[in-house]
Amino acid sequence: MKKTIFIVSLLIFLSLPTPSLSVSKPCNKNDEKVLFQIKKSLGNPYHLTSWKKNEDCCTWYCLKCNKATGRVVELTISTRNISGQIPPEVGNLPYLQYLAFRKLTNLTGQIPSSISKLTHLTMLSLSWTNLTGPVPSFLSQLKNLNYLDLSFNKLTGSIPPELATLPKLTEINLSRNKLTGVIPESFGKFSKNFQSLHLSHNQLTGQVPKSLRHLNFSTVDFSRNKLTGDLSMFFGRNKTIQIADFSRNTFQFDISKFIFPASLTWLDLNHNKIYGSLPASLRGLNLQNLNVSYNRLCGNIPKGGELQNMATTSYLHNRCLCGSPLPACSKGSGLS
Ligand SMILES: *[C@@H]1O[C@H](CO)[C@@H](O)[C@H](O)[C@H]1NC(C)=O
Ligand SMILES: *[C@@H]1O[C@H](CO)[C@@H](O)[C@H](O)[C@H]1NC(C)=O
Ligand SMILES: *[C@@H]1O[C@H](CO)[C@@H](O)[C@H](O)[C@H]1NC(C)=O
Ligand SMILES: *[C@@H]1O[C@H](CO)[C@@H](O)[C@H](O)[C@H]1NC(C)=O
Ligand SMILES: *[C@@H]1O[C@H](CO)[C@@H](O)[C@H](O)[C@H]1NC(C)=O
Ligand SMILES: *[C@@H]1O[C@H](CO)[C@@H](O)[C@H](O)[C@H]1NC(C)=O
Ligand SMILES: *[C@@H]1O[C@H](CO)[C@@H](O)[C@H](O)[C@H]1NC(C)=O
Repeated sequence: MKKTIFIVSLLIFLSLPTPSLSVSKPCNKNDEKVLFQIKKSLGNPYHLTSWKKNEDCCTWYCLKCNKATGRVVELTISTRNISGQIPPEVGNLPYLQYLAFRKLTNLTGQIPSSISKLTHLTMLSLSWTNLTGPVPSFLSQLKNLNYLDLSFNKLTGSIPPELATLPKLTEINLSRNKLTGVIPESFGKFSKNFQSLHLSHNQLTGQVPKSLRHLNFSTVDFSRNKLTGDLSMFFGRNKTIQIADFSRNTFQFDISKFIFPASLTWLDLNHNKIYGSLPASLRGLNLQNLNVSYNRLCGNIPKGGELQNMATTSYLHNRCLCGSPLPACSKGSGLS
């Protein structure tokens, strides 16, 4: 009798789901196999010596598992002496949400198309490496992607318009590459939650698309490109932009009638061809930085707010900008 009860309770115990709080599932065998392929593909680097058989792969360096499933959900390889290309096998870690290869001088080659299989990916960061080739349009298959950082590489070609179809994307950083062509018109179709667009230090040309007026950015950095035209789509009373760097391009427009939103704390417009006079709306801002040097501005610097607290270098090298902190306007000049 006792024996039967024991067996029955044992069977009940075995049929219960694993208590998720106390026990974590060991690493999935398929994921382990793929990780060994990745290690081999990277030349068995010293940095990955903790990746060895007989130790649960969920305990290895550079990765994280979902405790309930034993599937690898994060892989981050950074700041080590690793040479070679991104192993295409990373595409065979189907539950990956977070993938980063960072600060690897000797990581070369293109972004492998196998990455398009990682449909759970929310964050992709391939930054400070020596990757070449294009920003692949297949990234638009990663429908859960929230954050895309491909900055500090040697990527070439134009920006794929398809990225705008990613419904959850909130941040893109393609700064410090060798990208050419225009900013896609489609970028105006990013979701309402899109926040941050970094495209600085490339060779982008053409006008900033008017469609971007549909978005509420918090940060935009287009500095050091060859962009032209106007920037009015980022500003206006109802906008929420905080940081705006458009320095070192060839923007050419009259800034006099701009209304800068109260959210703006950082505005860098240096080295463009902006003309007109500085608008009074600048006085109402809690500015940490303003730089309008090397443009074609004229007239009085409005008095008030933070405008007189900026260094003179914020205003130098304009056509006829005057008034504190620059020298006073002379009679008949700068009163336009
Ligand atoms: C990069 O590769 C070169 C030559 O292959 C090697 O001398 C150098 O140590 C490597 N540097 C890093 C940080 O991996
Ligand atoms: C980096 O790795 C390469 C090749 O494995 C080796 O020749 C070089 O000495 C390593 N450099 C450092 C700084 O560890
Ligand atoms: C790319 O490689 C060059 C040497 O080939 C190196 O000087 C540079 O620092 C590397 N870039 C990055 C971002 O590691
Ligand atoms: C790229 O921009 C994002 C914000 O969109 C930022 O979080 C990230 O640190 C930047 N990357 C680098 C390498 O500066
Ligand atoms: C931008 O944000 C402001 C303030 O939150 C809001 O009034 C406005 O409707 C938003 N505009 C868009 C296009 O989402
Ligand atoms: C700004 O928002 C106000 C109310 O929140 C609205 O009446 C006005 O039409 C908006 N202006 C623009 C330019 O969107
Ligand atoms: C404004 O930009 C110019 C040009 O890059 C630079 O020389 C100057 O130091 C900047 N001023 C401030 C206050 O940042």
